Amino acid sequence: MKTACIFDLDGVIVDTAKYHYLAWKRLANSLGFDFTEHDNEKLKGVSRIESLKLILRLGGKQLSAEEFEAALTRKNGWYLEYIQKIGPEEILPGAAEFLQSAKAKGMKVALGSASKNAVLILERIGLVNEFDAIVDGNKVSQAKPDPEVFLKAAQELAVDAEQCVVFEDAVAGVQAALNAKMAVVGIGEASVLHAAHTVLANFSGLSVDDVLARLPA
Ligand code: BG6
Ligand code: MG
Repeated sequence: MKTACIFDLDGVIVDTAKYHYLAWKRLANSLGFDFTEHDNEKLKGVSRIESLKLILRLGGKQLSAEEFEAALTRKNGWYLEYIQKIGPEEILPGAAEFLQSAKAKGMKVALGSASKNAVLILERIGLVNEFDAIVDGNKVSQAKPDPEVFLKAAQELAVDAEQCVVFEDAVAGVQAALNAKMAVVGIGEASVLHAAHTVLANFSGLSVDDVLARLPA
C-alpha cells in the first residue's frame, strides 16, 4: 500500500528550469561560448557540479579547481538573483492542490530534490511548512540517478521504499526512484519519461486515487 509521496522540486512543484538556464547561459557566455535551451534539457535533475562539468564539455573548456568553484559560485549568485521574484504564482498547475489532497488522505509527504536552494524556493512559494520531511542537495552526497535522496526521504518519513510514490520530471530522477525500488510518476512527456510507471503532463484535475490506480500495487 502506498502511504507516502516524495516530490522532486524543480519541474514538478515549480518551474525553475528557465532561471537555471539563464544563469548557466550567462556563465557560458562569460567563459566565451554559448549554451542553448536545447542543451539545457540535459541538465534537468542533474546536480550543480555535474551540470557545470557537462556545460564545460559542451563548450570544450577546461577550468582549474579554483576556477571551477568560482564558476559555481557565480552561477548560483545569478540564479539567486533571478529567483528573487518567484512566488506562489509559479507553482505548477495542480501541484499544491495534489499535495494537499495527499495529506488529507493521511499520506506522508516529503521533498526529494538535488537543489541546495530547495528550502529558499519552498519559502518563496509558501510551501515550506507543508512537508513532513525535506531532503535536498545539502543532505545528500550522491547525485540522481543514485537513489540516496529518495531513500533518505523514506527514512525520514519512517516508511519502507515500497510504500513510496515518487513524482519526477527528469530522466535521472525517474531512474533514481526505480533504483530505490519505488513507484514513480513521471511529470512531463511520456516519450522522454518512458521508464516511469505512469506519466502525467501535470497534476491538473487529477485526484490522488486516480494516480494511485495507475501504479503497480
Ligand atoms: C535540480 C535541477 O533540481 O537541482 C537542476 O533540476 C539543478 O537543474 C539541481 O542543477 C541543483 O540545483 P541548485 O539549486 O543546488 O543549483
Ligand atoms: Mg526536477
